[in-house]
Amino acid sequence: MSTLSIPQQHKTQTDFLPLEGTDYIEFYVGNAKQAAHYYQSAFGFQPLAYAGPETGIKDRASYAVRQNKLTLVFTTALRTGNAIADHVYLHGDGVKVICLRVADSVSAWEETTKRGAKNYLSPVKTKDEHGEIVLSGIHLYGETVHLFIERKNYSGVFMPGYKEWKTLYKPTSTGLLYVDHCVANVDWNQMDRWVNFYEHVMGFRNILSFDDKDISTEYSALMSKVMSNGNGYVKFPINEPADGKKKSQVEEYLDFYNGEGVQHIAMATNNIVETVTALQNNGVEFLKIPSSYYDDLLSRVGDIDEDLEPLKHLGILVDRDDEGYLLQIFTKPVEDKPTLFFEIIQRKGAKSFGKGNFKALFEAIEREQEARGNL
Ligand code: FE2
Repeated sequence: MSTLSIPQQHKTQTDFLPLEGTDYIEFYVGNAKQAAHYYQSAFGFQPLAYAGPETGIKDRASYAVRQNKLTLVFTTALRTGNAIADHVYLHGDGVKVICLRVADSVSAWEETTKRGAKNYLSPVKTKDEHGEIVLSGIHLYGETVHLFIERKNYSGVFMPGYKEWKTLYKPTSTGLLYVDHCVANVDWNQMDRWVNFYEHVMGFRNILSFDDKDISTEYSALMSKVMSNGNGYVKFPINEPADGKKKSQVEEYLDFYNGEGVQHIAMATNNIVETVTALQNNGVEFLKIPSSYYDDLLSRVGDIDEDLEPLKHLGILVDRDDEGYLLQIFTKPVEDKPTLFFEIIQRKGAKSFGKGNFKALFEAIEREQEARGNL
């Protein structure tokens, strides 16, 4: 599946915001140089581009890394008293920008702002010797934003302001391919507000809903709705906390992030056993699932192509829907705050999100919450 081209049959007349996929995700972090190295050494991203004082950018340093169709950017402020430094002070390291690729950035901005999106960046053209890009942006939940990038007239490595990041360090790929979905944690009673936003402002559809009966353990609960754009290339599940005996994992996130933000990014692979083996060998930590999960797995999900033993050894979860099955696993938070984490997912026909794994998964998260004293 390509995330960056639109098959003819999926084009519709009514899509006022045609999206070509996720272009990049930008994190505001305390130390971009070290963060970029972590995503290279642990996740197998390749160096792509750099922006900073050496490229004429005075207030920040940004490192872009890439693996197949996944591009991540890590940005740090060089001084205090600006939006980047304030963001990191308030939230810790976290996702600031989910940048969506469009054919027409001006139209994307006009169509969304006229439907009620709050302006973050009015359309702006920037140029260098490789051509020009157009960027525009709107505000989302918390301090997160969407940028719309139009790069059809640009042939440079990333975008104006950046130069190619040349380094001898070229880590081995771990087989990560593209952003499968990107999940938001929003505040109490705010899920429907953001479902509405994605429906009316962005033209997305609500393709799945989970209530607190689907997603609850003995102690805590959450609710979730999945929003998808017209061609299905961009999917945003939105979670809000629900009442339980103890503190919901979404509440713990909101407490530590100081507000709403991106909870996890799911990255796709074509071989989850190889990818997760490589990630674990590189030091990425995953949530532990009790081995009893595997006792009756095949009776729950039916036949699968993979051997059970490596899945059990690595802690990979399996779920089936009407169209096939999926394999998935979740990292522990990738910073000291219990905020952002990653999902690794391999889809074998299934288009859903692993509802059958929610209970085992959330119990695993609760064990971590309890160890942190936050349950
Ligand atoms: Fe997910």
